[in-house]
Amino acid sequence: MNFNPELEEKIRAAIKDIKDPESGRAIGGSKQIHDIGELNGKITVTVGLTSFCWALKERFHDTVKQKLEAEFGELNFDVEVVEHLRPAQPKGQVGLTAKAVIAVGSGKGGVGKSTAAICLALALKRAGSKVGLMDADVYGPSVPHLTGVRGQVSKVGEKIGPLDFDGIPLMSIGFMVPPDEAVIWRGPMLHSAVTTFVRDVAWGDLDYLIIDMPPGTGDVALSLSQLLPITGTVIVCTPQEVALIDAIKAVGMFEKVKIPILGLIENMSSFICPDNGKRYDIFGKGGAKEYAQQAKIPFLGEIPINIQLRERGDKGQMTANFDDPNVGPFLEKIAFQLCQNMAETAAHKPVVAQLPVLG
Ligand SMILES: Nc1ncnc2c1ncn2[C@@H]1O[C@H](COP(=O)(O)OP(=O)(O)OP(=O)(O)O)[C@@H](O)[C@H]1O
Ligand SMILES: [Mg+2]
Repeated sequence: MNFNPELEEKIRAAIKDIKDPESGRAIGGSKQIHDIGELNGKITVTVGLTSFCWALKERFHDTVKQKLEAEFGELNFDVEVVEHLRPAQPKGQVGLTAKAVIAVGSGKGGVGKSTAAICLALALKRAGSKVGLMDADVYGPSVPHLTGVRGQVSKVGEKIGPLDFDGIPLMSIGFMVPPDEAVIWRGPMLHSAVTTFVRDVAWGDLDYLIIDMPPGTGDVALSLSQLLPITGTVIVCTPQEVALIDAIKAVGMFEKVKIPILGLIENMSSFICPDNGKRYDIFGKGGAKEYAQQAKIPFLGEIPINIQLRERGDKGQMTANFDDPNVGPFLEKIAFQLCQNMAETAAHKPVVAQLPVLG
């Protein structure tokens, strides 16, 4: 109010071409410069960012602030990032509304897919995004155990109500059939189970649906890819050579069903001995990062071997990993890197379709 209109115009002009990390389009054009005013001798600039990119909030804030300071060195700015509403659109024919569907997989069992999928979902949720978690491991669902969420699904109108995991809608075959029956799911039944999960579950409006994939075969990946466009896959591997060979197989499997590779996570990358603080590279060092570079796959980060991480899984207390300085920052970095990579992709290939603008 009463703000110098000429200066306001100049401020708008200075930041209007900054790219929205979600769409790759200029924030000026998509009405993300919400307000410019003055308070306590500072110029306040309020810019909007969608919750999809909330993991990048700090970086977005700094980009806007630096741009303003470079342009108007003599003025003091207070930049505030607020949520810019842009609802997700239905994906494919199944009606699921999510901006990104991300499958977490590997070519090998026991490398920490479920752990990584849960931690990625939690990290994105904690950053402020709307996240759902789907356990697609119908053969041996471990998400109920690792999250500590137990119970049966409910009915929500015509749909199936997912269970709640710290504000994350969670779905697993473990909430529908007793665990010892899960092994009989295969072939057409497998496809129908996966279809039920994406089509009939009341996921709500999501930024991200994270899918914990079963080990090995590509059946579930194939079913999923037939049902809706998968944004991409995150491959989990351990650093030793044999696990890397399986990671390469997984990359091939996802490429075969035309699911893009969003990046590689190296799990169990090193062990910091709690007794002496020394680092031991039990399964070797840097192998996954090197492979990612060679294969031109983004490296998203590493998760160290951590005794408490395993114990928290067994106690269904995965959220506590974020309070642990030896684990939490690694998980946050992976979520940030994933969002940052997607933002770079969007910046190179902006979303062409008209985005809905609210307000
Ligand atoms: N970085 C880690 N440090 C310590 N323990 C870990 C780590 N990552 C995973 N684990 C433990 O290893 C075991 C296997 O992990 P998880 O179930 O996530 O693997 P998975 O690849 O999903 O297995 P599956 O192929 O059976 O689905 C679990 O007990 C888990 O707690
Ligand atoms: Mg698993």
